[in-house]
Amino acid sequence: MRIFREKDYDAMSRRAASVIAGEVVHNPSCLLGLATGSTPEGAYKYLVDWYKQGLISFKDVLSVNLDEYVGLAPTHDQSYRYFMQSNLFDHVDIVPEHTRVPDGLTKDAKAFCSEYDAYIRSKGYVDMQLLGIGRNGHIGFNEPDDHFVKETHVVDLAESTIDANARFFATRDDVPKQAISMGIGAIMGAKKVLLCASGEDKADAIYNSVCGPITPKCPGSILQLHKNVVLVADEAALSKLIAAGVEV
Ligand code: F6R
Repeated sequence: MRIFREKDYDAMSRRAASVIAGEVVHNPSCLLGLATGSTPEGAYKYLVDWYKQGLISFKDVLSVNLDEYVGLAPTHDQSYRYFMQSNLFDHVDIVPEHTRVPDGLTKDAKAFCSEYDAYIRSKGYVDMQLLGIGRNGHIGFNEPDDHFVKETHVVDLAESTIDANARFFATRDDVPKQAISMGIGAIMGAKKVLLCASGEDKADAIYNSVCGPITPKCPGSILQLHKNVVLVADEAALSKLIAAGVEV
């Protein structure tokens, strides 16, 4: 695992954006696996900025997102489709039909999930998968469990995830209780993984993912088995690794 130690959120965002831009420049028709949430927001701002300066183009890029809340329409301002449109897609030259986010309103989740996986497989898996990480170690919405789920699936969100995401909703009760998430199979199938983290509240999840036992109790720990992971994190998120004397 290659680790980039950055001083703060902005530096982490800039570094993450440059890793993504590097992929797009070297492989203009790549399949990018994308994430939502506070972590990648800053990186998306840099990418939009560099697109506006004419430094990168997304015209041949394909994308698949990690997850979506069950029950939220794409127009709901807390849906992950809405997040992607407003933070990235609406501001760059990506072709709308080239972007995929799980359909939170699907009537047939089982068929939808197997079609999502079939699409990813048909492309030879994702070229670069961007990941944030939950405080509980989740990647995508693969929550701590007693086993890893390989396929895209409907997941019951952990209480801690509902707590963490309540900040985006009027009340905690408004947070959807389920999501559709890419499984560990598609994430581990990615040719490259870019894991990003910022802030002290991610320090345990990062420590456990990098140094802890490989266990579905900390889904991020599976990344220890991936051959090509780049971790971009600020010093606060790396603090437990640094304190443990891990060279970063
Ligand atoms: C988002 C996703 C989640 C988030 C994680 C961290 O698409 O899959 O795993 O990356 O919950 O969220 P933030 O970045 O808001 O702390």
